[in-house]
Amino acid sequence: MATGTFPDNFLFGAATAAHQIEGSNTNSDWWAFEHTASSGCRDPSGDACDSWHRWDEDLALVQSLGLNSYRFSVEWARVEPASGEFSLVALDHYRRIVQRCHDRGLVPVVTLHHFTLPAWMSERGGFESPEIAARLGAYTERVAGAIGDGIGLACTINEPNVVALMGYLLGVFPPAVRDRKRFEVVSDAMRSSHRAMVEALRAGPGHYPVGLTLSMAEMEAIEGGEAQYAQALEHLEDAYLRAVGGDDFIGVQCYTRLRFGPDGPVGIPEGARRTLMGYEFRPEVVEHTVRRAAAVCGLPVVVTETGISADDDAERIEFIDTALRGVAACIADGIDVRGFYYWTLLDNFEWVLGYSQPFGIVACDRATFERMPKPSATHLGRIARSRELGSPVGAEPRQ
Ligand code: BGC
Repeated sequence: MATGTFPDNFLFGAATAAHQIEGSNTNSDWWAFEHTASSGCRDPSGDACDSWHRWDEDLALVQSLGLNSYRFSVEWARVEPASGEFSLVALDHYRRIVQRCHDRGLVPVVTLHHFTLPAWMSERGGFESPEIAARLGAYTERVAGAIGDGIGLACTINEPNVVALMGYLLGVFPPAVRDRKRFEVVSDAMRSSHRAMVEALRAGPGHYPVGLTLSMAEMEAIEGGEAQYAQALEHLEDAYLRAVGGDDFIGVQCYTRLRFGPDGPVGIPEGARRTLMGYEFRPEVVEHTVRRAAAVCGLPVVVTETGISADDDAERIEFIDTALRGVAACIADGIDVRGFYYWTLLDNFEWVLGYSQPFGIVACDRATFERMPKPSATHLGRIARSRELGSPVGAEPRQ
């Protein structure tokens, strides 16, 4: 395969998550967190993008852009609103999404857990509860039974390392704890929950690849930071990459580079380009993390998320273009990369940062919910349709 071209069955998609786009996810731990003054949340999620009602508009958009896949998540708080009580209406809702994806020629990529817990589960201790793996397993079994025959690819837990880090070590996500011991307990629970979910998915109808999606970064040690770097790599990446043996793929999600000094993470290099999130502009992270994930765990790779928060869409185009060049280089070197999902389809609820971070290839009017594709959506769609990268974007001086 010539460098810069993608195989016929390569998946090009956009990714979303239920809580960030559906709206009114009132029965979840995040909804409660957003309404707690001390949480530091900028906005409540509110109606989000109203995708609970406008989901088919979203699918129509993905299809019209020329993408061949859509990644979305099933919301546990809706499917199991009270312990042991499953909502047939919610399961049917997600079944219709899966079926409609097929009607529209889109491979449905389903994530079972994307950051949120039902309020009742968080009250029982969330990821610190000894029940968590069994509970996630039981929920997954129901979802698999309802939609498994239509799933194209399943992701168990979205970024379990971020949930553990932000929720239990940095205290930024619910339950806003800062405690290394509890972080370690939760990190172990993430891995056992993943295994229970893989089993539940495989025991149900349908045959589709199953994997975990991991947040990865281009990590580097600067002088004296070797121990901090090694510790971060072990707890945030390698402990998970060792635990996914027997899975069908690893989902790589990456946004930037992280550098470590003797006291932990250090700021971005002086003069380096920054994104609106304050991250270093680093689309090369995709090639770096794909190569690393493949080398460490030996599984096929799907880039289940990468993207950039930017007001200037030209920056997004440049990011996508460079990121895909990195993927193409990996494929040319024989690495089994199966897909690329841009985060995200719609400008949406960016957790603690509320609606301040436009990651989407499609803008969403906050008052009317009108969807307005940006030039980056057309750019990604063009590459997806032709399966070829044209000349590099961003190489010429911008006007
Ligand atoms: C998460 C998304 C989030 C995105 C951008 C990923 O870590 O899966 O939910 O919106 O990064 O910060």
